[in-house]
Amino acid sequence: MSRTIVVTGGGTGIGKAAAERFRADGDRVVITGRRPDVLEKAAAELGAEALVCDGTDPEQVRRLVGELPPEVHVLVNNAGGNTDFGAPDGENDLAALKSNWLGNFDANVLTAVLMTTALAPRLANGGAVVQIGSIAGTRGAGSYGAAKAALATWNQDVAAELGPRGITSNVVAPGFTAGTEFFQDRMTVDRREKLLAATMVKRQGEVADIAAVIHFLASPAARHITGQTLHVNGGALTTR
Ligand SMILES: NC(=O)c1ccc[n+]([C@@H]2O[C@H](COP(=O)([O-])OP(=O)(O)OC[C@H]3O[C@@H](n4cnc5c(N)ncnc54)[C@H](OP(=O)(O)O)[C@@H]3O)[C@@H](O)[C@H]2O)c1
Repeated sequence: MSRTIVVTGGGTGIGKAAAERFRADGDRVVITGRRPDVLEKAAAELGAEALVCDGTDPEQVRRLVGELPPEVHVLVNNAGGNTDFGAPDGENDLAALKSNWLGNFDANVLTAVLMTTALAPRLANGGAVVQIGSIAGTRGAGSYGAAKAALATWNQDVAAELGPRGITSNVVAPGFTAGTEFFQDRMTVDRREKLLAATMVKRQGEVADIAAVIHFLASPAARHITGQTLHVNGGALTTR
C-alpha cells in the first residue's frame, strides 16, 4: 500500500535521504524547508512534492498542514540543526546568550512540537512519528544538546498520546553523519578524524544509515517500538 509521508527539512542531508528511502517504496512524499530553490531541486530529483515552510512559525505550519493530503501515515520531524553556528558569542552578553538558546529550542524542539500538534488529528491510525534527535542530546553540546534532550523527553508524551491509535513515536539520534549541510564549513580534518576514531566501526555515519532506521521505525515490523530513542552512531556512544 502506498503511504503519504511528510519529511520536514527534506531538501538536504538526512531528510532528503529519508525521503528517497520512502520514495523507493512508491510512497507519496512531501518535503518541507525554508529555501524554495533547494526544496524544488530536491523534489524534482526525488519525485517528491515541495512545500515551503519555516517550521518555527506557527502561522506557516498551520498553512502547510492545510495544504497536506487529508491523511498522513508518517511524519518525520527532521528539520533542525545547531543554530549556534554563526551566532554571536553569548559568553559576555546575556541577551545574546538567551537569543542563542531560544534559537536552538525553536529550531529543534518547536519545529517538531508545532508540526506534530497541527498534524496529529490527520495522522493515520497505525502510523508513525519519527523525531530526529542527536548524540548531543545525551552527550551535551550547549543549547543544541539541551534542545535535542528536550525533544527526546517530549517524544515520550507524544508516544503516550498517540499510542492508543496505534501510532508510534520514536527518536533517531544520529552521531556524526556526513553528506549534510549540518556542519557548514566548520568540519576540520582533525575534528573529522577524532569523530571517526571515537566510533567502534571506524567510519563516519552516512545519511543512508540514518534513513534506514527512520524507514524501519515507520514500518509494519516496528509497531511495538514506541517512546524510545535509537542511537545510530557506530558505537561512539553506547546504551544498555
Ligand atoms: N549531520 C549530523 O552529523 C547530525 C548529527 C546529529 C543530528 N543531526 C540532526 O539531523 C537533522 C537533519 O540535519 P542534517 O544533518 O541533514 O543537516 P542539513 O543538511 O542542514 O538539514 C537540515 C534541514 O532542515 C531544514 N531546516 C532547518 N531549519 C528549518 C526550519 N526552521 N524550518 C524548516 N526547515 C528547516 C534545512 O533547510 P532550510 O535551511 O532550507 O530550511 C535543511 O534542509 C537535524 O535535526 C540535525 O540536528 C545531524
